[in-house]
Amino acid sequence: MKDKTVFICQSCGARAPKWMGRCSTCGEWNTLVEEIEEDIPAGAGGITYAPTEPVLYKDIQDIPRQRIAIGIEDVNKVLGGGLVAGSLVLVGGEPGIGKSTLLLQVARDMAAEGASVLYVSGEESLEQIKLRGDRLGVRDGRLFLLAETNLERILAQAERLAPKILVVDSIQTVFSAKMTSGPGTISQVREAANQIFRFAKTRQIPTFLVGHITKDGSLAGPKSLEHIVDVVLLFEGERDHSHRVLRAMKNRFGPVSELAVFEMTASGLQPILNPSAFFLRERPRDEAGSAVVCTVKGTRPLLAEIQALVSSTLFTGNPRRMTIGLDHYRAAMLLALVEKKAGYSFAGEDIYLNVAGGMSIEEPAVDLGVVMAVVSSLKNMPLPQDMAFFGEVGLSGEIRSVSQPLVRIKEAQALGFGTILLPAGNLAALDRKELPDIECWGVKTVREALQRVF
Ligand code: TYD
Ligand code: MG
Repeated sequence: MKDKTVFICQSCGARAPKWMGRCSTCGEWNTLVEEIEEDIPAGAGGITYAPTEPVLYKDIQDIPRQRIAIGIEDVNKVLGGGLVAGSLVLVGGEPGIGKSTLLLQVARDMAAEGASVLYVSGEESLEQIKLRGDRLGVRDGRLFLLAETNLERILAQAERLAPKILVVDSIQTVFSAKMTSGPGTISQVREAANQIFRFAKTRQIPTFLVGHITKDGSLAGPKSLEHIVDVVLLFEGERDHSHRVLRAMKNRFGPVSELAVFEMTASGLQPILNPSAFFLRERPRDEAGSAVVCTVKGTRPLLAEIQALVSSTLFTGNPRRMTIGLDHYRAAMLLALVEKKAGYSFAGEDIYLNVAGGMSIEEPAVDLGVVMAVVSSLKNMPLPQDMAFFGEVGLSGEIRSVSQPLVRIKEAQALGFGTILLPAGNLAALDRKELPDIECWGVKTVREALQRVF
């Protein structure tokens, strides 16, 4: 066997014959690491495959997918209706966001129902996991813990125990003794994921892998895992806020539209059954600059509060424009548009925009709400307390239709809103008989919207 050294980008997996400061494939700086290239291609593992034949489409038989229901109902939904037998699920998230907590809760619930679970941790000692488990209320049951980072030993134990579910926390700590590169390098992470994938498939044991991701949202190292695994779930949230959102980014067995919202409490993650009420629970009454928007995340409607603060610039120079939870450029565009089309002036005004509760919204459907919140703050006039908004704003000041209007309207109605301001185009296309009991005002332009409300 002749080994040669190569330099592998730890971000995208590209290889280069010599070290470079910047990866020529993905453009990241300082990501190339020297690794020994082994003769056995990673993932082949010496297995020989039986020759395959082309099969006529109509002769292919359906295999009913066996799905295992997980104790936490919302996680089942995100998985597309339960955990598919033999599937490999990557749970990505920033360190400290609650991945280990979530999976220990899943393990707890499975064990409580009589299934055997193997939870492998390369990050914490058994005592540390037990400490967390006690807080989460883990009781008797066949929940096995293994503190191990050696891939071969992990697989041997999993083979011996044949659990109903396997959890490996985290993939970055696992290393194969057969490879010379250090733990956490992309070659190791990929090899470990490949072997665990094969184990999950051959033994039909669904497996969760934990993967740490960096602040910018890329799965550091595990980026290259995304196409190996069957399902990628992202666990997100702000550390300073208690809510966490779990959503699917890739799912070979179902849609990627569902999401689950949790609250991190002293006794673990609690599902939030009514996220809209949760995000609006501290909304001030009759305050200028606050607008409720109907947004949709996946298929799920969510009401959120947009807050704007327009205040005179104290110092001469450029007034400040700050956004938290909204797209900065889009917000700047909306402000310019309000000045031009509605005749307000923001010269000499600092403008701050925020989505309450630490949420972030990318949807253009919140444009109308942003405009309303800004004008409300500028005029120092509160918006009607029971009014909600949705609609995209175009560059000529027109209000454009958005997707799923009925879902948005129904959510606003369910939370007690009496009036909703929406794109006229959306309203015209809706069947009046389907509309819930809520007043709908269709508007065509920003100017018309402002006139109707103020
Ligand atoms: P953890 O699951 O260890 O995060 P990850 O595995 O993603 O790195 O969770 C870390 C945080 O969660 C930690 O700061 C403490 C907090 N936490 C609670 O608030 N309540 C709890 O019951 C538990 C177990 C953790
Ligand atoms: Mg952890």
